[in-house]
Amino acid sequence: MDKMWAGRFLKELSSDTNDFNSSIAVDSRMYAEDIRGSIAHALMLGAKGIIPEKDSLAIIRTLKEIEEGIENGTVKIDAAAEDIHMFVEAELTKRLGDVGKRLHTARSRNDQVALDTRLYCVKEIKNIKAALIGLLKCLVSLAEKNVSTIMPGYTHLQRAQPVSFAHYMTAYASMFARDCDRLDDCLKRVTISPLGSCALAGTTYDIDRFQTAESLGFAAPSVNSMDGVSDRDFAIELTAAISLIMTHLSRFCEEIIMWCSWEFRFIELDDAYSTGSSIMPQKKNPDIAELVRGKTGRVYGDLMALLTVMKGLPLAYNKDMQEDKESLFDAIDTVKLCLPIFTKMLDTCTINKDNMLKAAGKGFINATDCADYLVKKGKPFRDAYKITGELVAKAISLDKTLSELGIEDYKEKCDLFDKDVYDAIELKNCLNKRNSYGGAGEKAVAEQIKYFKEFIEKNA
Ligand code: ARG
Repeated sequence: MDKMWAGRFLKELSSDTNDFNSSIAVDSRMYAEDIRGSIAHALMLGAKGIIPEKDSLAIIRTLKEIEEGIENGTVKIDAAAEDIHMFVEAELTKRLGDVGKRLHTARSRNDQVALDTRLYCVKEIKNIKAALIGLLKCLVSLAEKNVSTIMPGYTHLQRAQPVSFAHYMTAYASMFARDCDRLDDCLKRVTISPLGSCALAGTTYDIDRFQTAESLGFAAPSVNSMDGVSDRDFAIELTAAISLIMTHLSRFCEEIIMWCSWEFRFIELDDAYSTGSSIMPQKKNPDIAELVRGKTGRVYGDLMALLTVMKGLPLAYNKDMQEDKESLFDAIDTVKLCLPIFTKMLDTCTINKDNMLKAAGKGFINATDCADYLVKKGKPFRDAYKITGELVAKAISLDKTLSELGIEDYKEKCDLFDKDVYDAIELKNCLNKRNSYGGAGEKAVAEQIKYFKEFIEKNA
């Protein structure tokens, strides 16, 4: 097949070079974006009188037909084509002859590919955000049902202080809401149009880059044409934002894997969202959570690949940049795969409230409250801390909890203790006194639930 750039070449391209050079297997998924970008370009060329208006209209009409053809299967994307941009243009020229050949006036594949990739990111950012909102809804609904489900909160994976399962869920909601915001922020820089940067230096034609940017829903054209075709920050930023979503999912997965172990038994996954073992009949494995945790590594790899491809590239376009899409698309595909299945797994799990409460009863997670009791009676915190530490040591030596110590044990350490200490260290009270803004108490968590409901409404 004759290449569009064949004029300067005396020999045919070797077939192995053709295969090596081709990116169609990866970039064919951008056909709709490529056609959208070309339509915007053709419209501008016609409006500015750079090509005849009637040619512009014919190009636009035919591009729409090609898109329909690809969608309904009548147009087959040629696997031997160099890339999707060449394929669409060849298809156009096949149908329109000379008129089709006018489309590439005042344009280069360098600005074309940058534009298509950005348009693709815009579409996928919306999809990822929708999946995040789905997860946020699930978290809020779990939180609403569990404001009084007491469980131990941990630091260093050691039982620390009482929280509620709802407080845990709103903690994760905070993380995924930040992810939504990060995507929005990233979108600001994705929606800068490189179209009209041409190869690198702009063009001698009187194009209107503001018009094409606006017609594509972009905020503005890139300020500098060299940067327009060289910049892949937007792809790196999006992959970084996706990497953080994966980080959050992965941390959550780690907890879920622990929570459904026999050691914890805080939750049980639904049979439909867990798997068995080929040899051990008793096993019920949290494969989804493990796979999501595993795929997090793969997305970090995508981010690292992108950063490494871009490092050291001179301005402007270099073919190295063709490698950007595989990593970017893989990160997008992976997060889109993980978010919905993770959400379903979480949504269908059973919360073992009794086991959570039992675990909260052990480990002295009310020790801070015991110290606070003394502080409220006038002891400086450091002294109260030390006295409570001694009480904990005594309880450990007697294999008792703080509630099981007698009042004489308390009084022996400090005469400020009275019978009301038992109320103060009762788990339910410990939880519900923590109503400082953002805290684990029922009132504080209700505020958090309200916050995330409003967030969902604003972002849905
Ligand atoms: N397939 C190329 C890419 O993905 C398109 C741009 C090619 N431009 C060029 N001057 N060879 O980056």
